[in-house]
Amino acid sequence: MNIWRKKSLELYNEEIKTTGLKRVLGKWELMAIGIGAIIGAGIFVMAGVGAKDHAGPALALSFVLAGFGCAFAGLCYAEFASKVPVEGSAYAYSYNTMGELFAWIIGWDLVLEYAMGASAVAVGWSGYLSKFLAHFLNIKLPIWLMNDYYTVTDKLIKISNTELLQDYSSLNIPEIFGFNFCINLPAFLGIWLASLILIKGIKEATSSNNILVIIKVAVLLFVVFVGIACINLENWTPFIPDAKPIIVDGVEKGSQFGFKGILSGAAYIFIAYIGFDVVSTSAGEAKNPKKDVPFGIIGALAFCTILFIAVSLVLTGMVPYDKIDRAAPIADAFKQNNMPWAELIISIAAIAGLTSVLIMMLLGQSRVFYAMSKDGLLPKSFSALHSKFKTPYKTSLLFAVLASLVSAFTPINKIADMCNIGTLLAFVMVCIAVMIMRKRDENTLENDGTKEVGFKTPFLYVVAPLGIAFNLLMMLSLEAVNWYRLLIWLGIGFVIYFLYSYHNSNLNKNISGK
Ligand code: ALA
Repeated sequence: MNIWRKKSLELYNEEIKTTGLKRVLGKWELMAIGIGAIIGAGIFVMAGVGAKDHAGPALALSFVLAGFGCAFAGLCYAEFASKVPVEGSAYAYSYNTMGELFAWIIGWDLVLEYAMGASAVAVGWSGYLSKFLAHFLNIKLPIWLMNDYYTVTDKLIKISNTELLQDYSSLNIPEIFGFNFCINLPAFLGIWLASLILIKGIKEATSSNNILVIIKVAVLLFVVFVGIACINLENWTPFIPDAKPIIVDGVEKGSQFGFKGILSGAAYIFIAYIGFDVVSTSAGEAKNPKKDVPFGIIGALAFCTILFIAVSLVLTGMVPYDKIDRAAPIADAFKQNNMPWAELIISIAAIAGLTSVLIMMLLGQSRVFYAMSKDGLLPKSFSALHSKFKTPYKTSLLFAVLASLVSAFTPINKIADMCNIGTLLAFVMVCIAVMIMRKRDENTLENDGTKEVGFKTPFLYVVAPLGIAFNLLMMLSLEAVNWYRLLIWLGIGFVIYFLYSYHNSNLNKNISGK
């Protein structure tokens, strides 16, 4: 049994020449894809809970910490993307270095990153949309049409603790087979909308992306430069609140704030950075992947890190951290500072901006499945291109179904944590894989001066181990239940691999990877 077989660089190079996808993306478009995928629910939504329940004003330090983990991993991604510029991202890199089983694990794990990421973003999008409809257009959807069941009951508990007890029956939640039926309908529809845009074509998806990127960058700059005038230094004191135990039903369940709070905050808002790797999944569509893909990854990551740190400082400076809103924290901070017009602008930009993230997450997902299917590890129909649009539409449809159902019925924090743990694992594996590749290349290519040199991670043997350490640390600060879910997901993946993928792999049949 050969689960360690590797797909050679020659095979990849052959594929690159014959790729069925159109090569249309330049370096700025790639960077825009990165920014489009990065700026989203993480900064517009999760930052609120990150400060309120985890780090307090030190949220900016959580962003610094998570930013380091991503920067180290990003540098490793860049080297890989330059060497193996195909659409499979971390999946393809592991196939070339660590062998088929690891590649499969990573590809399977990336579903958590992209599909779960898309679902989390859809729920965040729905939160801003519902607020916008209610505040500015006076359209109030029933609570059971805007939230999953757990969020509805959680909201009721919070209301009943603080204000009057709200009668459950007054909400008119429909019953289906004796169960209360709650659905996050905007999130469900948002996933479908993004999927259909994507099926229509990458050029269409990225051209709308460019406009959306400009809008959301402009609005975050607005938040920083207008919000800075509203900073009250008292809100930053103490900058790192003392650690405090979390007690649920009389039992201690961890702690919040203090140094640990910064760490758990980093793991929670980690989703904010996810997306730079989508640039590498678009390598198959890049005009000059060896140079432009590393530029897109590193440029997008650097730009967003600085912006996030600035926004989180402004947010916690504008509002005492315990008064930050959970669903739409940035917009609400301006409302609390008597600027309802700014709240309106930010809400509209968030709705538009999160749409582009949705498209990018779903794009990443379809590209990874496309690559796995081309290699024979998944049925061939996942790589079939649409005759007119030339996009892998069957994969897009499959994930439209899955992600829309998850987002319709699951609370955002549960989805985000699954997305985070899956992505952190992928980053750890990429850091390991790039060291393996470098060692191998040092042994085989040292006398070959004819090879075109792509991007090389500086100080790789320091950067990659630091990437592993930072990302593992964040994984360990996520609740244990996420580890169990991850193991179950990987277990299902193993079963599929040994029942299907191992036997149907192109490398098994000894045919080329086309
Ligand atoms: N980074 C993306 C977001 O924050 C996934 O929404």
